[in-house]
Amino acid sequence: MENYKRTRTCGELSAADAGTVQILNGWVYRKRDHGGISFINLRDRYGITQVVVDENADEKLLAVTAELRNEYCIAVCGTVRLRPDSMKNSGMTTGDVELLAENIVILNKCAVLPFLIEDETGAKDELRLKYRYLDLRSPAMQKRIRLRSEITFAVREWMRSRGFYEIETPTFIRSTPEGARDYLVPSRLYAGKFYALPQSPQLYKQLLMVAGFDKYFQIARCYRDEDSRGDRQPEFTQIDIEMSFVSRDDVLKMTEGLFFHVFKKCLDLELPAEFPRLSYDEAMESYGTDKPDLRFDMKLRDFSAFAAASGFEAFKAALESGGAVKALVVPGGAAYSRRQIEELEAHAKIYRAKGLAWMKIAGTEAEPALEGGAAKFFAAQAAAISAGLGAKGGDLILVVADSKRRTANVSLGAVRTRLGADLGLCDPAKFRFVWIVDFPLFEFNEEEGHWEAAHHLFSCPQEQYHANMEADPGSVKGDLYDLVLNGYELASGSIRIHDPELQKRVFKVVGLAEAEAAQKFGFLTEAFSYGAPPHGGIAPGLDRLAMLMSGDSSIKEVIAFPKNSFAQNPMDGSPGAVDATQLAELHLALVDESGKDG
Ligand code: AMO
Repeated sequence: MENYKRTRTCGELSAADAGTVQILNGWVYRKRDHGGISFINLRDRYGITQVVVDENADEKLLAVTAELRNEYCIAVCGTVRLRPDSMKNSGMTTGDVELLAENIVILNKCAVLPFLIEDETGAKDELRLKYRYLDLRSPAMQKRIRLRSEITFAVREWMRSRGFYEIETPTFIRSTPEGARDYLVPSRLYAGKFYALPQSPQLYKQLLMVAGFDKYFQIARCYRDEDSRGDRQPEFTQIDIEMSFVSRDDVLKMTEGLFFHVFKKCLDLELPAEFPRLSYDEAMESYGTDKPDLRFDMKLRDFSAFAAASGFEAFKAALESGGAVKALVVPGGAAYSRRQIEELEAHAKIYRAKGLAWMKIAGTEAEPALEGGAAKFFAAQAAAISAGLGAKGGDLILVVADSKRRTANVSLGAVRTRLGADLGLCDPAKFRFVWIVDFPLFEFNEEEGHWEAAHHLFSCPQEQYHANMEADPGSVKGDLYDLVLNGYELASGSIRIHDPELQKRVFKVVGLAEAEAAQKFGFLTEAFSYGAPPHGGIAPGLDRLAMLMSGDSSIKEVIAFPKNSFAQNPMDGSPGAVDATQLAELHLALVDESGKDG
């Protein structure tokens, strides 16, 4: 080998190359010795090729081969040859051939591995993150990161084809909280002043509309100091979009087109041209959540008429105090043990249900009967209940009654979600999109005793609510929409306020004093006074999209270098201490936990 530069990749060789001499570069994935013959699976980003070192190879080659361990980075020169028919591997792209090694050069050795590199690693998350560069070598992780790259490219391709400009917005901005806590960056030049990292480019994209750019998008990094979960990271990426002179339907349609393109291009899947729409109220009533998983049906049903006609006092009391009684039919659930039902009840209680009543459907189709649990209160209504709920023999009926309608819906909705997973109804290869529209604009914060924006402060109240907004904030529906995919909130957006006066009224409803609003958002309301166009937009989360498209349940899997659940990076040790000089330059002093200067 004059040089070690590869002539082909490890995913490329086929029968057509038989007889040619090639050089491959890659990592030793697996090495097996069979009676003097060594088989090396050589891996790179493109695939795996089998390298054979024959027992008659020269001594130098045999010596190097003996030295090879997993993950050594090597160059191999050899002749491509067809494998005997019995040895062909149709599971491998290169499975028809192997490379008969003539020379092997070790480009770099590999220390003892902290874990074996394989698709289904048994290594703990923390170890995977500490050695992320090794974890990322596995074919499964390579596939995920490739998919993410393809998604990003497809997004750019589609947005460009629709006339959107990709415009970067700053990542050092003024602290203008959007719901979560800001990450702050102290200024060296201005003592006591801070930049904030954007929770999203929200205000900037609106200002780009004021600036006349008409259609904007950005693959934007966002930062939020909030607790991590499976679908949340402190830093994450949005496909951030804003458009001028649009109605809600324009934004929804554009987004449907985007996802249609991305799924076709990256998964060769044809999505429906339009996604179904549910109002927020309908979603809460039928699924008990604004993020319903529509891969399975099992809607929540109104049980109040049956409750009212029964002798079950607890149910009647809930109704009399203005609450609701909701039911869920679990197909085949009559086989559930008491213990399984108790587990579901415990789950409902996490969401504040006082209990989970149940009954099983028995008897015949013509003459259904109710058994177990609360059945005795409803015996006389067995036929009406089974017909009304569409329940049949062998089904289980679960019921929550609560004086708060929301609690009944939310807790039973949580049971529905859990059953979906338990009953194996959540096939990751199925993609069920749904728009949730007509959200309330404000939510009452019980703890702090004031109204706050349900989405963010810049979303427009629907016109019919403008007049009564201050008098009855709870009734106001906003021009807000979420796109939900398989039970995850994939995207959120709204038509924005572009009238400075209306914007000031919204600030006031959430208790932002005029002076405070002027200080925090004055630049936005001022901009609106210079002929701001009507505008609206949306922001799908890229990490969540990639997670769902790759069939995963944690966004960590599709982020090259994510943080752990404690917002740390076990690889580089961030967040880390900084030295006294750095602190002094930033005009900062640390206070120790006991509150003394440190
Ligand atoms: P929102 O805050 O709803 O809206 O965020 C939009 C989408 O971003 C994703 N997302 C996250 N992904 C991972 N980790 C997180 N911590 C995280 N937080 C949010 C979700 C979510 O649907 N400026 C508005 C959008 C707009 O109105 O145009 C915004 O940021 O997929």
